[in-house]
Amino acid sequence: MSMQAWRGQLLRFDSEGRPAYDSDGLLVTRQDADGVRRVLDAGAHGAVAARHPGLPVEHLPGRLIAPGFIDMHVHYPQLDVIGSPADGLLPWLEHYTFPAEARFADPAHAAEVARFFFDELARNGVTTALAFATSHPASVDAFFTEAQRRGLRMIGGKVLQDRHSPDGVRDQTEQSLLDSEALIQRWHGQGRLGYAITPRFAPSCSDAQMHGAAELARRHPDTWIQSHVAENKDEVRWVRELYPQARSYLDVYQRFGLLRPRAVYAHCIHLDAADRLLMHETQTAAAVSPTSNLFLGSGFFDYAAAARHGMLHGLASDVGGGTSFSPFHTMLAAYYVGREGQSKPGLSLAPSQLWWQHTGGAARALGLGGVVGTLQPGSEADFVVLNPQATPLLARKTAQANSLEELLFALIVLGDDRVVEQVVGA
Ligand code: GUN
Ligand code: FE
Repeated sequence: MSMQAWRGQLLRFDSEGRPAYDSDGLLVTRQDADGVRRVLDAGAHGAVAARHPGLPVEHLPGRLIAPGFIDMHVHYPQLDVIGSPADGLLPWLEHYTFPAEARFADPAHAAEVARFFFDELARNGVTTALAFATSHPASVDAFFTEAQRRGLRMIGGKVLQDRHSPDGVRDQTEQSLLDSEALIQRWHGQGRLGYAITPRFAPSCSDAQMHGAAELARRHPDTWIQSHVAENKDEVRWVRELYPQARSYLDVYQRFGLLRPRAVYAHCIHLDAADRLLMHETQTAAAVSPTSNLFLGSGFFDYAAAARHGMLHGLASDVGGGTSFSPFHTMLAAYYVGREGQSKPGLSLAPSQLWWQHTGGAARALGLGGVVGTLQPGSEADFVVLNPQATPLLARKTAQANSLEELLFALIVLGDDRVVEQVVGA
């Protein structure tokens, strides 16, 4: 039988984001008819082991078994853009990002970067991501080909940008929509792969392209939509000039019909109460990208306001605006952003809440609640094995942890890829 079990410290979440922790836990998995590994049983070792007598167990003493991390917004072609300094978002796009993305006209380059990208996600314990490719359809094929080879649950899509974009990345309106449709047919729902319709952001898409994207999204209601909104004040001003009739930047997307469940907008910093309510009512999700927002000086996501309006949200690296693939670095940056109290009320996000935002909470925001991110029975068994003794200081600090929150916070503050010992994919 294709059952497998792991014994160690075990972290799970319930569907509301409450953590469950067993200092001596057991995770039992079984492959389903499609060859996908699912959680069969999980909890305290004594109780779970008694329900599965004779099952061989891999023992992981001193290790923490936890849900694989979920990155809600990342640009795989921006791997080489990390750490490019600029005077904010728009110069950064022009001077570094568009030239780097233009190289993806070459399928061999796309394939090489895709391999490096998925290696990097694995090193960092990221098992699912919602990713931008580039405007070149072959960059999407490279992404999904590699994800499929590795059996990952991955979502991605071809960038739409038919205006205000330089030669080399600008696409053609009609062709861009035909290409998107063909890519949906080719990849969406193949095993664990999903397609995301990807208008880059309002300034880069003509009205016709935005209408076409929304039409695709209506025809394929279980695809994702991904874009950017309200990241930077210069960008917000530009959108106001382009769409003077819109109530707000977010309202531009609403007018075209691009807000719905499984629509994910990166940043969501410069929003007002009406915007947040609209996000809530349409079940549109925010991909909070704190290392990117700090690096590009974009601003601070308002966690208190998001909670007040019941806005779906979760964490994202936004590489290459973001500075790290590491979920630990992203969670720590999210903590800094939450604490910031000059531009909005500051608060201290609980470590388990930060962790939830990067696992089960991100899954729920993506419309994948119950599928990944919690290690609940029936869900897909993508998980990480973490070593809380990975560095001398971590070993010293985690040895003094008196609670789950203290253990998780030590990992968030001091952890990185050195902590990630194993990644097990479903
Ligand atoms: N807005 C439009 N394109 C991008 C991008 O590539 N990165 C970020 N951070 N914001 C954007
Ligand atoms: Fe982005």
